[in-house]
Amino acid sequence: MHKVYLNGEMVALSEAKISVMDRGFLFGDGVYEVIPVYSWRPFRLPEHLRRLQRSLDGIRLANPHTDREWTALIDRLVAAVDAEDQQIYLQVTRGADAVRNHVFPKRVVPTVFLKCDPLIPPSQAEVEQGIGAISAADNRWLRCDIKSISLLANCLLRQQAEDAGCIETLLFRDGFLSEASSSNVFVVRDGALLAPPKTHLILPGITYDVVLELATRHGLSHELRDVTEAEVREASEIWICSSTREVRAVVSLDGRSIGSGRPGPVYEKMQRWYQEFKAAATRGS
Ligand code: PDD
Repeated sequence: MHKVYLNGEMVALSEAKISVMDRGFLFGDGVYEVIPVYSWRPFRLPEHLRRLQRSLDGIRLANPHTDREWTALIDRLVAAVDAEDQQIYLQVTRGADAVRNHVFPKRVVPTVFLKCDPLIPPSQAEVEQGIGAISAADNRWLRCDIKSISLLANCLLRQQAEDAGCIETLLFRDGFLSEASSSNVFVVRDGALLAPPKTHLILPGITYDVVLELATRHGLSHELRDVTEAEVREASEIWICSSTREVRAVVSLDGRSIGSGRPGPVYEKMQRWYQEFKAAATRGS
């Protein structure tokens, strides 16, 4: 079994131990990243590291490593896993203090944890037939732009989908689409792509950016603006996207078919562009 990284050491997962006083454990006081690796190369690593910095700034925690150090660490972990496609989990918390106190400790020694595992690809059925989703009120906090490890609301919302035999929960706040429990959301209306802009109400997804870049590159018209719940329900296509799921078509929402009830023509195009882009990026071209 490959090792994990904890605070400067490579250790077996069963040996990776932290204090029960760690603020990540007590308060969910930390941030994280999930980075896909294709053909042994981390995908969009500079962008993930930039977002990590943004999240750390958002919780007022100094970055414990330079980008060069993170990259070296990640390269070492990736090389030790026996799979060409992987996913890296990276977490930084505000560390442990002697007492439980909401106020930050005076001297902070952050806890740094990294783990790398083979990437489990989505099933052929998910890719070709699409997925089911439900909807719920977005009851999370107002700093969803920080990739915080405090994911209780996201977990509860994701579990609602699971309980309904679905894959995702689309979230609406005050009548507008925000994102989903663990992915960003796009809709297609009149052949054009529509998505909420990056605000404090959504996570600035790395995959979301790739989708927009590909839309620009291939001349697919797109608009970033507030999207009403009615516009989502009447869309011809809905997609979710994330680093681990890539882009997936949502073919039913709350039990009602979206479009034809099959992945739509715009999704088919984006899926092709995305796979081509990934292949080129991992060839280093
Ligand atoms: N989740 N929105 C939320 C709430 C997310 O949790 C994620 C990713 C995204 C998509 O971001 P990206 O394209 O950068 O992966 C959007 C990760 C994969 C997770 O928590 O496992």
